[in-house]
Amino acid sequence: MSDTYSKAQTAADFILAKTTLRPRIGVVLGSGLGSFADELADPIAIPFQEIPGFPRSTAEGHAGRLVIGNVGNVAIAAMQGRVHLYEGYKFEDVIFPMRVMGRMGIKGTVLTNAAGGISEKLEQGCLVILNDHINLQGANPLVGPNDSRFGLRFFDMGNAYHPPWRQLALREATRIGINVHEGVYVAVPGPSYETPAEIRAFRVLGGDVVGMSTVPEVIAARHMEIKVLAISCVTNLAAGIGSDPLNHQEVLEVGMRVRDGFVALLKAVIPQMAAEL
Ligand code: HPA
Repeated sequence: MSDTYSKAQTAADFILAKTTLRPRIGVVLGSGLGSFADELADPIAIPFQEIPGFPRSTAEGHAGRLVIGNVGNVAIAAMQGRVHLYEGYKFEDVIFPMRVMGRMGIKGTVLTNAAGGISEKLEQGCLVILNDHINLQGANPLVGPNDSRFGLRFFDMGNAYHPPWRQLALREATRIGINVHEGVYVAVPGPSYETPAEIRAFRVLGGDVVGMSTVPEVIAARHMEIKVLAISCVTNLAAGIGSDPLNHQEVLEVGMRVRDGFVALLKAVIPQMAAEL
């Protein structure tokens, strides 16, 4: 009973025993973007360390709790914070929360992150609706034996970022008046920020934003046929584009600055996403 599937089931049962809500959408809130979970109605919050098998978030700006509550009349589970490879976690730990959400019955996910802007059209504080990714984290989180209870050994990633939800998010962001774009996310392991030469290379490859998370969760979600919407907040221009040295404080501050628009966007899209599930 020590396989990941059983562990994820145990964690899911533990969480669902604490609430009568049955969330169908799971949200992961990245660096500086956690405040959305504070606005849920009828919330219950569970610290990650209380959930059996859950990894603990050590990154500053990540509260490290799971909040279950309502957006309008849609029940969601929102993770305030996530764990990253650069903290020393294995891929298995990084995707465990997504596995748990799958066992909780979640059918759609919104993954958010702070990212550096590579594309020239991006400015600090704008949002990017991801339409694809390039995985430069060194491996795929699903290497190893496949557990067919989660999904297929080989599966399509052609429309990993659910096209109708991309359109929905772009439309709602524009309506709200948010500076919004679409783009490709390049995932690196971190923790150092990139060099200017790396950023020039990523631009040639077709990357628009760069960050240290999200892609393992997208892959795990698609393995379970969970639909994905992913949103980057451009907290800084990537290395060599702006003139300032990069720092995590700036990442957190810009997250705070976009807070209201970001919360409004999630509140607008989630009920419409739920209508499709
Ligand atoms: N690079 C990688 N990860 C990031 C960045 C960046 O410039 N900004 C926020 N997360």
